[in-house]
Amino acid sequence: MVILETERLLMRRFQISDLDALFALYRDPMLRQFFPDGTLTYQETREELEWFLHGHPQHPKLGLWATIYKPTESFIGRCGLLPWTINQRQEVEISYLLDKAYWGQGLATEAAQALLRYGYDQLQLTRLICLIHPHNHASINVAHKVGMTLDYVHEDEKWRDLVYAHTR
Ligand SMILES: CC(C)(COP(=O)(O)OP(=O)(O)OC[C@H]1O[C@@H](n2cnc3c(N)ncnc32)[C@H](O)[C@@H]1OP(=O)(O)O)[C@@H](O)C(=O)NCCC(=O)NCCS
Repeated sequence: MVILETERLLMRRFQISDLDALFALYRDPMLRQFFPDGTLTYQETREELEWFLHGHPQHPKLGLWATIYKPTESFIGRCGLLPWTINQRQEVEISYLLDKAYWGQGLATEAAQALLRYGYDQLQLTRLICLIHPHNHASINVAHKVGMTLDYVHEDEKWRDLVYAHTR
């Protein structure tokens, strides 16, 4: 099921057959260096993929979606919209992770921009955030490029994230 399309990208629901391609990304320490849970095992990747097969179980319109590069129909990552409760506030995060071979071509910005519009126009959301490790300069740049600004810093004993936000 296709969720949204941009000029170069298509986002669709995950299929079990995406598991190996997703694991190739999740096992890579460079791609996962700014995620609190770091790299994932094959089994952990399977569990995450199965969790999102039909959208987020508690919020089926949200979720992580397989991200396909249209010119070659290749699986190049996963992007999506994730629900969080932060400081008693319901938030929806724009999330993006792409294969290194596709970095630096504006694809994450294209994905994030489309997710922002999808969240506002299709899901009637009024605010979207990005949760970003302070050293993840590429991700901070993506957030800036879609018009987000730093709202506050969220931290617990183990992790620290910048909360970038955009309001409709
Ligand atoms: C974050 C990520 C999705 C960016 O993907 P991308 O497709 O390369 O991003 P874009 O090409 O849209 O680049 C956006 C901007 O960031 C800049 N940028 C890209 N990589 C950068 C880096 N390592 N350091 C600083 N700036 C960087 C780009 O130059 C661009 O700005 P510009 O147009 O002014 O030149 C990618 O690096 C990634 O998948 N990282 C691993 C997963 C991750 O950390 N996800 C985010 C979690 S919050």
